[in-house]
Amino acid sequence: MDKKRVLSGMQPSGRLHLGNLIGALSNWVKLQESYNCFYFVADWHALTTGYNNPSAIKDSTIDLLVNFISAGLDPEKSTIFIQSMVPNHAELHILLSMITPVGWLERVPTYKEKIQEIQDKDINSYGFLGYPVLQTADIIIYRAHYVPVGVDQVPHLEISREISRRFNHLYKEVFPEPEALLTEFPKVLGVDGRKMSKSYDNAIYLSDSPVIVDNKIKTMMTDPARVKRKDPGNPEVCPAYQLHKFFSNSQELSEISEGCKIALIGCIDCKKILIKNVSDRLTPLWEKRSQLLQKEGLLMDIARVGSEKAQKFTAETMNLVKDAMGLSL
Ligand code: TRP
Ligand code: SF4
Repeated sequence: MDKKRVLSGMQPSGRLHLGNLIGALSNWVKLQESYNCFYFVADWHALTTGYNNPSAIKDSTIDLLVNFISAGLDPEKSTIFIQSMVPNHAELHILLSMITPVGWLERVPTYKEKIQEIQDKDINSYGFLGYPVLQTADIIIYRAHYVPVGVDQVPHLEISREISRRFNHLYKEVFPEPEALLTEFPKVLGVDGRKMSKSYDNAIYLSDSPVIVDNKIKTMMTDPARVKRKDPGNPEVCPAYQLHKFFSNSQELSEISEGCKIALIGCIDCKKILIKNVSDRLTPLWEKRSQLLQKEGLLMDIARVGSEKAQKFTAETMNLVKDAMGLSL
């Protein structure tokens, strides 16, 4: 029963799409088999940039939780919770904020980028600067060994390692230095051939109905060189084929690839196979989603039970922390 601990979270900032499923969630689901996993909705983090419309955060939090569970995160195996329901995170955050040099935070590349990028609201706040400190508290309060993240989160994790090291050095060894578990996978492309992203309006969402998914794939971009049915194509430049790579088996892939190059298979038939495979993959998600949405209270019960478990585990860490700092009264 001495499994290593994994922690990861997502900020509730809108709907999840196939890219999030392939890149993050399905990996989280797999990790449940070998690790003691903690997964959560980082609703406080969403306030750092969304403080002017906090009620939207509540809806996104619920939606994200629905996605977590329907994608296969299992409350029996993992601790699944909402950040704001585990106030110990906030307590550790305060203590860590005392030992974190401001210069470390100002140097985080995502901080500088976001300050430049976000023009429509003022994010020059104390809370936004402290984003990585809160994120550190989220991680090390579970004394987590691994954090599955995308490459974009690596600078944040680096600062978490530095803050834990500083704590251990100043007081007493309490925290393992969390390591990134990088999920390496090729970019998932959207229906227009660019990277799948909310901001490009080219995504296939986990909340899309079967009919919508069907339509999005039918109208998805293909190799532009295939104007007529008899024109040969190149699957490597075809966004639909890139999706096939995630959803179709190797025999289908080689048949499609060969068939496309000699115009034996047309795009319509090729996409029929894709639609079937994507639907097969998403069917269990669609079913769980409708179950969760039908049974009122079920979702919040899951969140409550998970958050209580998390609060209990983190209380042990807080005792260690206060002992180490000589603060226990
Ligand atoms: N920063 C992450 C995101 O943008 C969310 C997050 C908050 C997180 N705390 C974390 C991720 C701790 C991993 C570990 O989605
Ligand atoms: Fe793309 Fe398939 Fe059409 Fe080839 S046949 S261009 S792989 S959709």
